[in-house]
This record gives sequence, structure tokens and C-alpha cells, in this order.
Amino acid sequence: MMMTLLAETQWWNWLPQKGSTFTQWVDPLFYFELILSVVLFVGIGGCMFYFVWKYRRKNQDDKPHGSHHNNTLEIVWSVIPLGIVMFIFVWGFRGMLDMTQPEDYSTEIVVTASRWNWQFTYPNGAQSSMEDGLIVPVNQPIRIVLKTPLTDVIHSFYVPAFRIKKDAVPGRYNETWFKATSIGDYPIYCAEYCGQRHSQMRSKVHVVSEDEYYAFLTKAANFLDNDPPAEAGKKVFAIKGCATCHSVEGKAGTGPPLNDVFGSTVTLSDGTQVMADENYIMNSVKNPSAQIVAGFQDQMTVLDVSEKELDALIAYLKSISKHYVGNKE
Ligand code: CUA
Repeated sequence: MMMTLLAETQWWNWLPQKGSTFTQWVDPLFYFELILSVVLFVGIGGCMFYFVWKYRRKNQDDKPHGSHHNNTLEIVWSVIPLGIVMFIFVWGFRGMLDMTQPEDYSTEIVVTASRWNWQFTYPNGAQSSMEDGLIVPVNQPIRIVLKTPLTDVIHSFYVPAFRIKKDAVPGRYNETWFKATSIGDYPIYCAEYCGQRHSQMRSKVHVVSEDEYYAFLTKAANFLDNDPPAEAGKKVFAIKGCATCHSVEGKAGTGPPLNDVFGSTVTLSDGTQVMADENYIMNSVKNPSAQIVAGFQDQMTVLDVSEKELDALIAYLKSISKHYVGNKE
């Protein structure tokens, strides 16, 4: 494994694959600083060892003589480092401004981070799930609007191949942008520790041709109106990240499994029993802390779920419950 990894990467290449225009300045700056650090470390360390050896105590009578002030030396070792630091500052600052200001963009995608999910919403209302990934056209500036629900925690949208990382903070919108330079798949990570499943907040940017992008947009749009409710609900379940915590195969995760729940009797943590009907599902989505299922903790984030999405979710939960008797043939 390690050997194949080594064989496939060039030994001098320390950075992830190149996927966006930002690599044009981030990469040279990184290598400049890396090489400079190595040169200085070896130079300063080398001098230190050399002087320790050269001026060692040679015999019992060897006494140190105090050093004298040297103006030239003082100025040289102040001005040169200042010059280098300013050079790096200007290089990095110009790049940072470039990263802050999106180029003239035509596409804006809302990225919603939550525990522990990425949700992508496109200009025409189409959505894609963490598993589908973020689908973007190649060679077009894309503005990303980042958000996270108020009841959630800080996450960070990190795409190493694009050299971008931006926090998603509850209660405010953040923005970033990129222009992908070649078609392909690039990993998305969460770069802010956000709890139990932080390491599983992984997705992908799928950079595709413009035609493919528009084909996806058209296909993904209006699924809430066009798909049968239970199928639309299955998509909502994936997009909102419900599956991260709730299995539909009966296994307990961070939250209770949700198959065979609709129409059943649920025991809550205070010992009371409730009927899992439409209202139970609605309350569990809108106010998840109110009724905690016995054996689980109050961990669910309040997601932004519309009426239509909620109806679809309820239809989906009915379709996967053996206790639901309506509409079955
Ligand atoms: Cu989200 Cu770490």
C-alpha cells in the first residue's frame, strides 16, 4: 500500500492534486517557504554547531572575551529578514484577497453543513446529498455560500485540491469561491472537529462539463413535485443527512433506526409511550429535543425542513414501516 503510494507520487510533490486556479499561487508560495525554511534551518543550525566547535574551551586558561557591538551586522540581520518577511506577506496577502473576492460568477451554490452532513443546493433549487457530492461545471467561477443551522456547531468546508478551506458557522453566512480547472473528483473534508462523526463528514466535488452540469440540474430540479412522495422522501432523507445517524435497516446509530417506526409504539427516555404517527414524526424533526427515544441521547440538530420535504419524509417513513397499513395492496 505504502509502496504503491510512493511509486505513484513524485518525491518532491508534497501537495494534493491540483484542481483549481488557486494552485497557481498557493503552490509556489508553499514551496518557496518550505525551501527557505530548510535553507535557514540548515544554515543557522550549521553555523551553531560550527561555532560551538570552533570556540570551544581549549585549555584551563581559555577565558571568553566579551563581544563588541557591530552596527553593520545588526543592520544586515534586521533588514534582510524584514525584506523576506515582507515579500512573503505581499505574496500571501494578494492571494488571500484573490480568494476572498469571487471573480464574476454566474453560479452560486449553497453548502449547508450540519452534524454530520453536507448538503448542496443549486441555483434552480435542485439539491444533492453528501453521497452524490457537489456537482460543478469546469472552468467557471463558482461562489459558495456556507451555512450551518443555528442549533449546530462549527464545521469547515475543506477541498485540498482546490486549496480552499472556510468555516461554516452557526448564525452567519460565509462565502468562498473557486474555479475548477479540470474534470474529475476531488475530496471534501470537514476541517473543524464537530463531534462523534466528524471524520465521516466526507464528500466529493464532481467537476463535470457544462452540458453534464445542466443535465444534472434539470434532472434534480423539482423532485418534490415530480417524484412519488415516498421516493421524494427517500431523497430528502439522503440530502438532509438523516441516514448519517438513523439507519433504515434496524441498527441503532447515533439515533434510533427509522424502519418499522411509523405506526409503532415508541418508548421515550422518561418511560412514557407514544404512538409514532404523523405528528410524532413532525415534532421529532422540528423539535428533536422534546421527545427522546429511550436508550438514545439528545443529539439531533434542528434542520431547515420545509412542509413539502416533511410530507415527503413522512411518506418515506410510512413506506418502510411494517406497522403502517394504509395504502398497501
Ligand atoms: Cu463537521 Cu467536523
